[in-house]
Amino acid sequence: MPPPVLHAFPDSLVFTRRLGRALGWPVERIELHHFPDGESLVRVRAAAGGRAIVVRSLVEPNEKIFELLLAADALRRAGVTSLSLVTPYLAYMRQDRVFQPGEPISQRVLGALLGASFERVLCLEAHLHRTRSLTEVFPCRAESISAAFALAPWLERSGPLLLVGPDEESEPFVRGIAERVGFDWCVGLKKRQGDTEVRVALPHAQRGRRALLVDDIVSSGATLAAAAEALRAQGVERIEAAVVHAVFAEGALGRLRAAGIAQVVSTDTVPHVTNRIEAAPCLAQALAEEA
Ligand code: R5P
Repeated sequence: MPPPVLHAFPDSLVFTRRLGRALGWPVERIELHHFPDGESLVRVRAAAGGRAIVVRSLVEPNEKIFELLLAADALRRAGVTSLSLVTPYLAYMRQDRVFQPGEPISQRVLGALLGASFERVLCLEAHLHRTRSLTEVFPCRAESISAAFALAPWLERSGPLLLVGPDEESEPFVRGIAERVGFDWCVGLKKRQGDTEVRVALPHAQRGRRALLVDDIVSSGATLAAAAEALRAQGVERIEAAVVHAVFAEGALGRLRAAGIAQVVSTDTVPHVTNRIEAAPCLAQALAEEA
């Protein structure tokens, strides 16, 4: 049986080619046109009877989500027999409950939409807090691969560090990495009062140590900046940060630098100047096991 074809949007072509090289699978480009009124049109190249995997991270997600639905429709009309989605960064996972009256559960809305068009969804380190598994989000097969597999080799090369998660939500992630590399770890308590108003309290005095903040997402940078300030107040000499999804809203990198974070590295699920760690091998392994 011929291998599945990876279908890339223009913004996901670099990552998809890395995935294609890791798997030895072909890559096709999805042509994308934006009409003057803002509507999108996609064109795919697919053979009838083939298996297709669409690859796209969902940073700045709203338009991209609709374009994924268009691509899925186009691929089915072209006659593909199985259709999966690899979304290295999966958006809308943080709104997993109604925090204030009148809000939606965005996570469920996204799951219903994409799950109706794809038979399988695969991502890296989805933000799953109150939801235990992606199978609760999507009505189709869905899996989040732990980014600990991607981060651990980089951490081992960086030498012994204290791993610090900024909030309770980060605990499973930080513990998973720490167990893999054998480093000490702790997590803080976070209070968010607004998009960029965050306070983090850390448990122990860490005077003189070298600390690495680890988190799944940097968006405004307020969380990691607040955690860095708490570490500095405790006398930590060098603070670095490693994140999975470099979402980085405008001004976020400057906020981290101003907070005294000497180095920031990220995986390449979202293209960014801080990308140092390839995520494709983790996703390739999961895809290869089932091909
Ligand atoms: C939330 O719990 C996530 O794990 C991140 O800590 C959060 O999304 C980071 O957002 P920001 O950079 O805007 O503080």
